[in-house]
Amino acid sequence: MFAARQAFNFSQRRAFSASARQASKVTVLGASGGIGQPLSLLMKLNPRVTELALYDIRGGPGVAADISHINTKSKVKGYDPTPSGLREALTGAEIVLIPAGVPRKPGMTRDDLFNTNASIVRDLAKAAADACPDANLLVISNPVNSTVPICAEIYKSKGVYNPKRLFGVTTLDVVRASRFVSEIKGTDPADEQVTVVGGHSGVTIVPLLSQSNHPDIAGEQRDELVNRIQFGGDEVVKAKDGAGSATLSMAMAGARFAESLLKAAQGTKGVIEPTFVDSPLYKDKNCDFFASRVELGPNGVEKIHEIGKVNLYEEKLLDACVTDLAKNIRKGVDFVQANP
Ligand code: NAI
Repeated sequence: MFAARQAFNFSQRRAFSASARQASKVTVLGASGGIGQPLSLLMKLNPRVTELALYDIRGGPGVAADISHINTKSKVKGYDPTPSGLREALTGAEIVLIPAGVPRKPGMTRDDLFNTNASIVRDLAKAAADACPDANLLVISNPVNSTVPICAEIYKSKGVYNPKRLFGVTTLDVVRASRFVSEIKGTDPADEQVTVVGGHSGVTIVPLLSQSNHPDIAGEQRDELVNRIQFGGDEVVKAKDGAGSATLSMAMAGARFAESLLKAAQGTKGVIEPTFVDSPLYKDKNCDFFASRVELGPNGVEKIHEIGKVNLYEEKLLDACVTDLAKNIRKGVDFVQANP
């Protein structure tokens, strides 16, 4: 009898701790935008998410009302653009996704967005540092190479910086690389893992084809492929002809990264995603942040993998990358120092 009760209590406790561990609130800042809406939709479809908080300077409650009718378990709430709305949206969050800000128009680089997006991201980071300093912060707003350092500076100024919890979302570069390689080789993109390192714009995006399934891709074909991966975003900006940049593929990429973090937080081992984080790899080249393969875990960043063996061609790409990336990072840090 005693043994039976003990067993019952044990299974009850186990059930309780499993569900407690799986309570995952995800907050989207910029939820009614081109990325924000499909990203929120995909998070609503993710069974690991228990609560979804949707905030935007306009339209958050409308998107939330719409998404809340989808018959999955999570609770959805939209928030108005007031300081208390933003605070409530963030309180208790495990993951905060930031796709707030303006996207590119044809002819613009990601750096051209700096003047508008730097202050948007700075202010949202301040709110997150106050309301949920332990949450994982996933920065999508461009220029990622600068907006991630901006968040780090804000968290440092508030004494709550945890480098293991800050991520620049570069997943779309990885998604594109695997898709573009599969188009050339006639394979299933699900089987094509291409590591992309560096940053998230132009020449700072460095695909390591020598480490992929197809180190044989060479010459002009390789140059074209690398260029397409580095400037794939421009294809979309041009095709949308002034109506914005990648939104649907970005939403998929953001949702994939959030799912990887949730999965790792809930105990799955060996979850690896390339992402732009506070990294020791190129600090000696003034790049305090660098994207490489990162193993995720319950504490966020578990392990930053080395770049590994690269060929001469990729060494040159990395040289070009760090020159630009160091400037982008400096620009973000300087911005916060001048505009705290
Ligand atoms: P969008 O203009 O369609 O949506 C942006 C949303 O942010 C709007 O709903 C706007 O109301 C909202 N917003 C603006 N200021 C805000 C604030 N202070 N607080 C909360 N919400 C605010 O733009 P889209 O296409 O969704 O792009 C968003 C950002 O994502 C851009 O900076 C874009 O460059 C970037 N992006 C990043 C990618 C990546 O791979 N990391 C890929 C594609 C875009």
